[in-house]
Parts: sequence; C-alpha cells; structure tokens
Amino acid sequence: MNVLILGSGGREHAFAYKIKQSTLCKNLYVAPGNSGTREIATNLQFQVNQFEDIVEAIKKFEIKMVIIGPEVPLVNGLSDYISANDEIKETIVIGPNKHASQLEGSKDFAKEFLNRHNIPTASHKTFTAENIKDAFSYIDSMIPPYVLKADGLAAGKGVLIIDNPNEAKNELTEMLLNSKFGDASKSVVVEEFLDGIELSCFVLTDGKNYKLLPSAKDYKRIGEGDTGLNTGGMGAISPPPFLTKDFMRKVEKKIIQPTIDGLMKDKITYKGFIFFGLIKVKEEPYVIEYNVRMGDPESEAVLPRIKSDLLELLYSVSKGQLNHQEVIIDNKESATVFLVSGGYPEQYEKNKEIFGLDKVSGSIVFHAGAKYEEGKVKTNGGRVIAITSMGATVKEALDKSYNSIKNISFEKMNYRGDIGFDL
Ligand SMILES: Nc1ncnc2c1ncn2[C@@H]1O[C@H](COP(=O)(O)OP(=O)(O)O)[C@@H](O)[C@H]1O
Ligand SMILES: [Mg+2]
Repeated sequence: MNVLILGSGGREHAFAYKIKQSTLCKNLYVAPGNSGTREIATNLQFQVNQFEDIVEAIKKFEIKMVIIGPEVPLVNGLSDYISANDEIKETIVIGPNKHASQLEGSKDFAKEFLNRHNIPTASHKTFTAENIKDAFSYIDSMIPPYVLKADGLAAGKGVLIIDNPNEAKNELTEMLLNSKFGDASKSVVVEEFLDGIELSCFVLTDGKNYKLLPSAKDYKRIGEGDTGLNTGGMGAISPPPFLTKDFMRKVEKKIIQPTIDGLMKDKITYKGFIFFGLIKVKEEPYVIEYNVRMGDPESEAVLPRIKSDLLELLYSVSKGQLNHQEVIIDNKESATVFLVSGGYPEQYEKNKEIFGLDKVSGSIVFHAGAKYEEGKVKTNGGRVIAITSMGATVKEALDKSYNSIKNISFEKMNYRGDIGFDL
C-alpha cells in the first residue's frame, strides 16, 4: 500500500525508517519531511496543517494510510477532515479524531477523564478569568511548589512550576487575564506537585485492544546534569533502567487498561498511539499527561526496538484486530543522542553544512531539523540530528552513539555528553 507520513522531525524519519522495512509498503511519502526522509521516501512540499493539500495528495498518490506525527493537526481535526471527504473516506488514518485528541489538546479534558475513570493523577482544579479569586484561595490551600498548566496546546511551554505563592498568583494572572500563552491559557489547571521520577510509556490501540510498545526516558534540559532551559528533548533511552516488571504490571493495571476501558465507556473512538507521561512516586505510578501521538526523541529510541512489521500492526489497528497481532520487542536496549544547533533552545543559526553523516556505522542517523539543498545536508532547526544505537545494555548503546558522533560536525554543533548519566 502507499503510505503518507505527516511531519518533519526525527520522529517522522524514525517512522519512515520502520515503515520502509515493511513488505506491505509500496510507495512511501513524507510531508514535508527532511533530508533524512528524502533518502528513503518521496518528500511532498506542504505542511501538516494544510489539510486541502493533504487531501489532494491522498487522491493523487492513491494513499491508503496516513500516519500523523505531531499533535497540532490531530487536535485540529485532520482525522475527521479526511473521513468527512467522500472520495477518500476509506483512507486509514493513524491518529485519533478531534474529540479523542482533546486528551492532549485540553489538560482539563484529560484530568476529567482521569478522575472519571479513577486513574491516579495529581489532584487539581481548573480555573478561568471568571473565578480567578477561587484560584487564589486554592493556591493558599496547597503545599508548594505550585503547578500551573495552560489548558491548551502550548508547544511544551505552557507548564510553570513555582515555589512562591505570590509569584504563582502573578503568573496565574498573566495566564488567565493577560493571555500569557494566548488562547491556550484561557483556562488553567492548577495541580498538586508530585515528587518522583518520570518515564514515558507507549501503546498502540485500535480503541478496544492495545499493545505495549517499549518504554523510554527522555532528557529535556539543555545542560548536562539536567540543568538549564527545557528543550524538545536532548536524548532518550529505552527501556528506563528503573522500570521493573512489577512496576510495569502496576502501570498496566492502574493506568493503561483503565484508560482503554475509559475510552470505550465514554464512546471515544481511538485509533493510534497513546503516550503516557508518567511519574513514579515511591512505588506508585501517576499520570502527568496524555499525548495522542508518539514522542520525539522517544520515537527514535523506541521504534527501532520494535521487531514486528509496524505497517502490519497499523493495518490491524484500522481493522480493529490488534488482538490478532503480536508485538515482538528487541531484547537489545537503545540510546538516542540529539545533536543541536549552538544557542538552542534560545537564538541559533541555520543553514550550516553538516559533515560526516556518511562515515557513521553501527548507529542509525535520524535527521530532524535538517534539509537537503544543492547537494548538501544543512541544519534547518534547533534539534538537527538524532543518533540511535542498540546494545546489550543502554550503557553499551550510549557508548556506540557517542562514538558515532565523533564522525559528525557542523558549525556550533552542541549535544549533551551525559545522556543516561543517572543510570
Ligand atoms: N503534577 C506535577 N508534579 C510534578 N511535576 C510536574 C507535574 N505536572 C507536570 N510536571 C512537570 O512539567 C513537565 C511538563 O508537564 P506536562 O503536563 O507534561 O506538559 P507539556 O508536556 O504539555 O508541557 C512534566 O514533564 C513534568 O516534569
Ligand atoms: Mg509533557
């Protein structure tokens, strides 16, 4: 079948890499893609929010399946848009519809869902400009630090964690009354701070059945030792070393199964990936958030560990027959290290030629903010290249990735030399 992947990051290159391995895949397209997807697929020149262009491409290239990488088109209802078009309504869309995507698109929707289905999460209340006074009293009743979350999508910037109650009230005022995060902060979730260690679990579901995919831990801060500003993610390892079988059983019993059951009870159709952002407090798992798609950089660490044919799995999702499938996970562990532009996540320059990618062996090179221009691969974003390696242990995988990085260079290239430091 012909497949279209939407997105342009390392995640989408990792999807393309896996889908390309499938014997079921005839022609593979990525829109808009990057210099990496260009090598294994046909890049199409439109953006993920250009719904009409997407529909045209589905018709023109006889696309049978669309895999939606990032959250914005999902939350904007791309899945519904495709199925509402009579000519292409048979197209398989991997990614939930607009309603289900509210699990990521509205933090309040997600909290209501979690509470309705008794899934462990931080206690919370949601406020708007109208009841900001109640929000202040709520803050006064809480033990610091205070967690303030813009309800809507805010590109990973909408969560503030604040120690001081007055500062928390000021920030809340900025969010609710002065549109600090635009429309995204018209509502704000104020919640209890949970002290623990974070991990990400992933499942693929057809809405009734689900399959566990490998779990991961990502490294968000720019600086070594988890210091400095937040980024889109500087690296990831899979599995997280502290994830025991016992704990994973707890996650399935208390979180994953109740989530799938909750979707069915609420009559929410869901076909795609669910990313569970979890925190382990003592020995108990809590949900920090849901994402309705795979993560980036987690995909670059997780997808290469899936030995089964990913396209076959996705096809059975569309048929509601995921229960007939087996997901075989590689025993090897994986580690991904991101090469980023100097200055990122603040100001940085683009258009730097990237050298040495062809010299890498023993690791997978996933392109992210990188483009092909005049025969050269050049930087085109903050996070540029993700290097993934597999090994008997995460440690071995990390050593391989760091060895591979020695071959690669571009002006002002930066990376964290300590991914997995806390193992
Ligand atoms: N209740 C909480 N307790 C402690 N830390 C939290 C809590 N909620 C969020 N965080 C921290 O803030 C980060 C971002 O929050 P999250 O809900 O994942 O929002 P988003 O990814 O949409 O920015 C989390 O990865 C976690 O580190
Ligand atoms: Mg998050």
